[in-house]
Amino acid sequence: MSSKEFSTVEVSLGDRSYPVVVGYDLFAEIDRYVSSRYEKVAVITQAEIPWQLDLSVEFEVFTIPGGEDAKSLRVVDEVSSKLAQFGLKRNHLIVALGGGVVTDLGGFVASTYYRGMDYMNVATTLLGMVDAAIGGKTAVNLREGKNLVGSFWQPKAVFCDLETLKTLPESQRRSGFGEMAKYSFLSSYTLQDLSLMDQVTKCIEIKAGYVASDEREGGRRALLNYGHTLGHAIEAQGFDRSLTQRLTHGEAVAVGIYFAAKLALSMDRIDETRLEEHLQVIHGYGLNEQLPNWIQRDSLLDYMKRDKKSTGTLTFVLDGKEGLEVVRDISESVVQEVLSEF
Ligand code: GLY
Repeated sequence: MSSKEFSTVEVSLGDRSYPVVVGYDLFAEIDRYVSSRYEKVAVITQAEIPWQLDLSVEFEVFTIPGGEDAKSLRVVDEVSSKLAQFGLKRNHLIVALGGGVVTDLGGFVASTYYRGMDYMNVATTLLGMVDAAIGGKTAVNLREGKNLVGSFWQPKAVFCDLETLKTLPESQRRSGFGEMAKYSFLSSYTLQDLSLMDQVTKCIEIKAGYVASDEREGGRRALLNYGHTLGHAIEAQGFDRSLTQRLTHGEAVAVGIYFAAKLALSMDRIDETRLEEHLQVIHGYGLNEQLPNWIQRDSLLDYMKRDKKSTGTLTFVLDGKEGLEVVRDISESVVQEVLSEF
């Protein structure tokens, strides 16, 4: 490893354990890691990602379409064909270089091509670093919904080069901050006082702990969805809005976190002081806790009932005296009341 500053977090999953390396100027290190293990590499990325890998082994770059549209079975089909034409075999490597769209799609291709081959994530967004690139959830979307086809397929390594954040658009930075705000409630750390590198590393440590103890989200990994029940509903309504109006994933999660705290307060699970702590964390990251004014409140409830954690009734991750927990069968009228005051 180079002498430059970096830290490594282990995702402990027995013989599928892997390192997540966080630091600055890691591209030479990535080359060393890859070239010492693989003879041939396919790099999957998007044209809008302003970073490129230069590897010392045979490699080819496969560019997928921009934005969330890339997460489709059509793109999986196209990329897989191109990998076959390139002669990629099971003992070779796929590198997903980009944000959550690239790592979700790249990981899914890796999990199916040759019935599963090695892949590695190089995250270039804050959201990717603290969430999407870690934990082995891969997925593509269907017309019927987001992430409906996917797999649990762990990468061999994840690299988070903080240098890449220097070119990250402000909206994407805010998206990462929304997820980072979430981690403040999944641990007892005050993350905001730390350097960016320490905050990212701490978020990864927290996530790695949840993944290691519940890889396939049979239980406690679901707590990583704090703020996501309303957050996903806000995102879904934003898809037909202009880019300037809609909220990014993390911005929507920040609103969802505050809503979940208000709901917890109304159910006497937390007190006003704890609600205020939520507001401080959200504002500390420069985020807003309010619903955007274009939101149609009536349809939010229906969307929240269809949330993936739900079994048909309203299900939220809620704060309480013992910390976060998944709470099922919450009365529609309670949620409606908090929503109407929100
Ligand atoms: N993004 C939540 C998880 O990986 O479980």
